[in-house]
This record gives sequence, structure tokens and C-alpha cells, in this order.
Amino acid sequence: VETITTADRMTALVSDWRRGGLSIGFVPTMGALHRGHMSLVDISTGRADRTVVSIFVNPTQFSEGEDLDRYPVTLDEDGARLREAGVDALFLPGREEVYPGGFSTRVEVDGLTEGLCGAFRPGHFDGVTTVCAVLFGIVRPDFAVFGRKDAQQLAVVRRMVRDLRLGIGIVEGGIVRESDGLAMSSRNRYLSPLQREEAAGIYQGLLRVRRAFEEGVRGAGELEEAFRSETGTRPGLRVQYANLVDPDTMEGLGYAGDGSLFAVAVFSGDTRLIDNILLEKRSGSVEV
Ligand code: PAF
Repeated sequence: VETITTADRMTALVSDWRRGGLSIGFVPTMGALHRGHMSLVDISTGRADRTVVSIFVNPTQFSEGEDLDRYPVTLDEDGARLREAGVDALFLPGREEVYPGGFSTRVEVDGLTEGLCGAFRPGHFDGVTTVCAVLFGIVRPDFAVFGRKDAQQLAVVRRMVRDLRLGIGIVEGGIVRESDGLAMSSRNRYLSPLQREEAAGIYQGLLRVRRAFEEGVRGAGELEEAFRSETGTRPGLRVQYANLVDPDTMEGLGYAGDGSLFAVAVFSGDTRLIDNILLEKRSGSVEV
């Protein structure tokens, strides 16, 4: 894996590959890589001739008082994992490469960014879409891979790519979980052993929601109740939101239909964790 720190070199390398007729997959990350990230990398290496992974802790997507200053950095381990996974280039730009002096553009997607995380993290998605637009411009991949754990981010980036006609495929990777169901996240390492144990309740809550849906419960309020009835048994968990939404528009829904998304943000101690579950009718099940 070649480590590249400048935008010019990154663009030049990808242009060479493209001239050689090779396809390019891209996985943007903020590092502290775990199995969830690596599953996205595997999707890219499985589909593209060349895979680029970026590691850049993007300051513009953190709000005041969030964890920018203590966001985990594990570059040696990350590099080793990427090498083993057969990644071709690691793009590791400094702040000045992504946001050079005079940088004055902000990419903002309306509507989809208002609810869920957008309601509690002002400016977060503007930071995400702006950095993704810059990174897409540097790497110019055929497709980029995003995880479904960050379902709102996935929908927002998809919309940006569509609206701006960037011509980049957005490929979705499923949620990878620990053995007790906790969704993999770089932020899980902030959890104390007790918080870590309690955090498994988030997935238990989502499973309750799915079970309720499968039993015919459709109302958003009842589904939220099902979630809270599980997390409420763990005193260290505090639900920030638990909402039923349309997975493409992120609009809140009063009633669940086939393919609705139930998305949550829950604090375990000071650590904010997000997760979600798609509600799908089992084939052969009967509407009641
Ligand atoms: O999901 C992330 O790690 C980040 O939001 C991303 C997409 C790399 C943009 O900084």
C-alpha cells in the first residue's frame, strides 16, 4: 500500500490507473479502523481493480464540545490492516491539503439533514458533504463505499452525488456487529467495561422493535416504546432520539411500512452511539 499525503500525487496516481483502464473504488474514513471499516474495504477490493482508502479526521464535521481533540488515532495499526487487505493506496492528507488557505466552499444538502443526527449536531452534515466533495474531487473514484450504520450520512451523500451529478457510484455496506450485537464504531473504545456491557442494550432494543414490527405493530410511538422498554432497563443509557424514518428521505414516519428504517442515537456515559435497523416484512408473512 502506497501512502500518499498530497492531493496532487493522489490525483496523478489515480489518473495513471484510469489511463491503464483500471477501475477505482474509494473508502473514505477517519481512521481507528475496525472490522466495520474493513468490510467496506473488502467490498471495494472485491469490485474494483484499485482501492484507495483515506484517513482524515475532518474538523468541519465536529461541533463545538464534541470529541475532535480526542478522536482515536491508530495509524500504525490502520496501515497494517490496509496492507493485509490488499489496499493499493492510503490517502493521508493534512488539513492544508484538504482545506488549503482561501478554501471558501460549503456543500449543504437540505431536508435530509434536518432530523435525526442533524437536529443534534448542527453543521455536522455540511462538514461531511463538503469533505466528501473535496475527497471525491481528489480521488475521482468510480464508486465510494459507505456503511449503513451511518444511515443518514449514506442518504445525504447519495443525494449530494445525485444532485451534483458527480458520476460516482455510492455502494452500501451492511452493519458489522460485535458478538453481543453492539455495532462496530471507532467510538466504542471510549466505553468503560460497564458502559460497554450496557451499550449492547441498544441492539437488544432494535431487535425488540423488529420483533414488534413482525408481530404487526406499526405505530412510530409504539415502536419507540418497544425500544425504550429495553434501553430503560440499563441506567447508563440515555436515548437522544429513536425515530422511524424513510431510509431515502430521512423523513419521519407515523407508521412503519416495508423497508422503513428505525434509527437511534443513544449515550452510554458521555459516548454517543448510533445504530439502526431496517424493518422488512418477511416473505410469506401476512399483513394484519
Ligand atoms: O463516516 C466517516 O468516517 C466520515 O463521516 C467520513 C465519511 C469519512 C467523512 O469525514
